[in-house]
Amino acid sequence: MKTSAPAKVILFGEHAVVYGRPALAVPVTQVHGDVEVTDSPRAGIWINAPDINLHAELTSLPTDHPIAAVINRLFPHPNLSLLGRGQGEGLEINISSSIPVASGLGSGAAVSVALTRALASYLGQSLTDQEINELVFEVEKLHHGTPSGIDNTVITYAKPVFFIKGRPIETFRVGKPFTIVIGDTGIPALTKESVGDVRKLWTEDKGKLEKIFDEIGQISSTARRCIENGEAESLGELMDQNHALLQKLTVSSLELDELVRAARNTGASGAKMSGGGRGGNMIALVEKEKAETVANALVSAGAKGTIITEIT
Ligand code: PMV
Repeated sequence: MKTSAPAKVILFGEHAVVYGRPALAVPVTQVHGDVEVTDSPRAGIWINAPDINLHAELTSLPTDHPIAAVINRLFPHPNLSLLGRGQGEGLEINISSSIPVASGLGSGAAVSVALTRALASYLGQSLTDQEINELVFEVEKLHHGTPSGIDNTVITYAKPVFFIKGRPIETFRVGKPFTIVIGDTGIPALTKESVGDVRKLWTEDKGKLEKIFDEIGQISSTARRCIENGEAESLGELMDQNHALLQKLTVSSLELDELVRAARNTGASGAKMSGGGRGGNMIALVEKEKAETVANALVSAGAKGTIITEIT
């Protein structure tokens, strides 16, 4: 049984989404998390994740290990050992991912979604997207403190999502496809930390921070309308505005700002950091023909990787 889940990128609204404002995120299918579950002649549940140099039997892993946590929480042992196969037989779980880790592209959530789907179908359980989303959200909470749930939602549904914390999922239509370039600073950054720092700022001056969150929320709502109406060209300006507000929240960095500048200087119609910030990725809105030029400029400005993706 083989399954795959895409990466995601937040177009607008990160951080403010933690405080109830809307955010927009889209799947990025060029990179993905992949899981294969097969029978194994050896007893036990064997996990092979060569990307992170992991080859271990489930019970030898600490219970809070990200992969063990998914399996243990979602599929308690008796369930797995009642597979109806002969004694001594076990399973092999092979995990791989082309999504850069700790960079705001949702690598953890993508592996959790693919793993949940693969194990459920191996066990003959059918889980709805809503059930998978809820289960993976529980795992996200273990690792990210107070996540809004946007990562697991967009990755589970693999559709553009207009996300408001705690509300039923809202997908939206893309009136006319548009192209974005994603640039990776190559600097791993923990979302938990930037979210914690924003929380500190909020505690110190709620009025000021709430106002910034309101402005970001407005941008997300306007952006959704533009995307649905096929007016993607207006998104560049909105990205620039959103980036400036994220700078005010102190979650950008010199490297992200440098990539944002490089993209704008080579013809992107707007650019912003994306995700938790401080490192990780930025995005730029480009005309399709300019995508390669902007991607090359990002590499010259220090990007460790780029992805060109069409949002459809
Ligand atoms: O770093 P990412 O892409 O996982 O995004 C985090 C987005 C935040 O709004 C900063 C946090 C959250 O839980 O929504």
